[in-house]
Amino acid sequence: MLQGKKVLLVVTGGIAAFKALDLVRRLRERGCGVRAVLTEAATQFVTPLSLAALTGEKVHTELFSLTDEAEMGHIELSRSADLVVIAPATANILAKLANGLADDLASTLLLATDKPVLAAPAMNVRMWEHPATQANLATLRARGTLFVGPNEGDMACGEFGPGRLSEPLEIVAAIEQIFGGYGPLSGKRAIVTSGPTYEAIDPVRYIANRSSGKQGHAIAAALARLGAETVLVTGPTQEPNPTGVTVHPIESARDMAEACTAALPADIVICAAAVADWHVVAQSEQKLKKDGKGKPPALKLAENPDILATIARAGKKRPRLVIGFAAETETVVEHAKAKRKRKGCDWILANDVSPDTGTFGGEANTVHLITAKTAEDWPRMSKAQVAEKLAARIAEHFSDTETK
Ligand code: C5P
Repeated sequence: MLQGKKVLLVVTGGIAAFKALDLVRRLRERGCGVRAVLTEAATQFVTPLSLAALTGEKVHTELFSLTDEAEMGHIELSRSADLVVIAPATANILAKLANGLADDLASTLLLATDKPVLAAPAMNVRMWEHPATQANLATLRARGTLFVGPNEGDMACGEFGPGRLSEPLEIVAAIEQIFGGYGPLSGKRAIVTSGPTYEAIDPVRYIANRSSGKQGHAIAAALARLGAETVLVTGPTQEPNPTGVTVHPIESARDMAEACTAALPADIVICAAAVADWHVVAQSEQKLKKDGKGKPPALKLAENPDILATIARAGKKRPRLVIGFAAETETVVEHAKAKRKRKGCDWILANDVSPDTGTFGGEANTVHLITAKTAEDWPRMSKAQVAEKLAARIAEHFSDTETK
């Protein structure tokens, strides 16, 4: 599925830069066009000539090159590809990108591009672990930069730990994942809701809940890994955007409902968001003030649209598999079975969220999968594992129904 795709490869200066040559070869074998840009430091490790020979394209290294600008301006170059890949990505280029520096061709292209950027970091373990690098990574992730690796292992500098460039085939797999179209869910479209919603009271205050978005985000990532074209409609969270997923950030339940409707049609919908049941009627345009007499304002609430129930009862447009969550604090399975019927969805993942379980905001979850026929108790596992297992069950469901 890389046939006909175009990658702009930015090679920065690290000892791992030689692996960029193999990466180019692997991409070209799959019919993917590659244009390469080298930083000045990268030219110490690989020559523009070898990259030009492997890509079959002119290699660019300088920002102020009259001949290059005459052929193709650097802005155009930054947008000429479907995806920009930085491999290897040094601590320096990540710091520059995080801070918006543009003092050479590579950093300028990265700032000017309107395409997704995938970075494959490679650096000494201490540089990787340095709070400055970690802060830059967090900034970039929050802005949607995608990452593959680094791997853990022996390093060229003699130390051991995370910082090794991913292998070329791992980078190819990450690129394939971004372009989608492979895996058991390829050709399927999925919408996942995640996180809390914020219901505004006035321009500064809102009503929210403790959902972290960890489970919903992990599910979107797992579906994308199996090849589904995945849309994630999410309330405000600290979670990074999952690789290969189209993310629609929203705040209120009504915005979430609208974004989900706009993302339809889909084959699979999973409502993992903790949607507020009510919103504030006639939210104040100005910040509410104390009246000085000790009388608090009365908030009038109105019910939010039930996104799950609406999608599950969408008639002809109903997705083939609609899955909801039931966060319960008692008689979990019984309540969830009733909820499945009430909402009209196909499956419910029920979880116990009583305070002592640590499910809200935590890394682990204990769930029960309720379908029309069965109620399965899954063992306690990480939210990422729940997501993997659910995605695998969904793939199994489609392969069963489609071969019947
Ligand atoms: O009714 P309750 O909030 O317990 O239902 C939980 C399920 O319904 C979750 O899957 C949640 O994402 C979904 N839901 C929704 N829209 C709402 C309320 C809940 O999609 N307004």
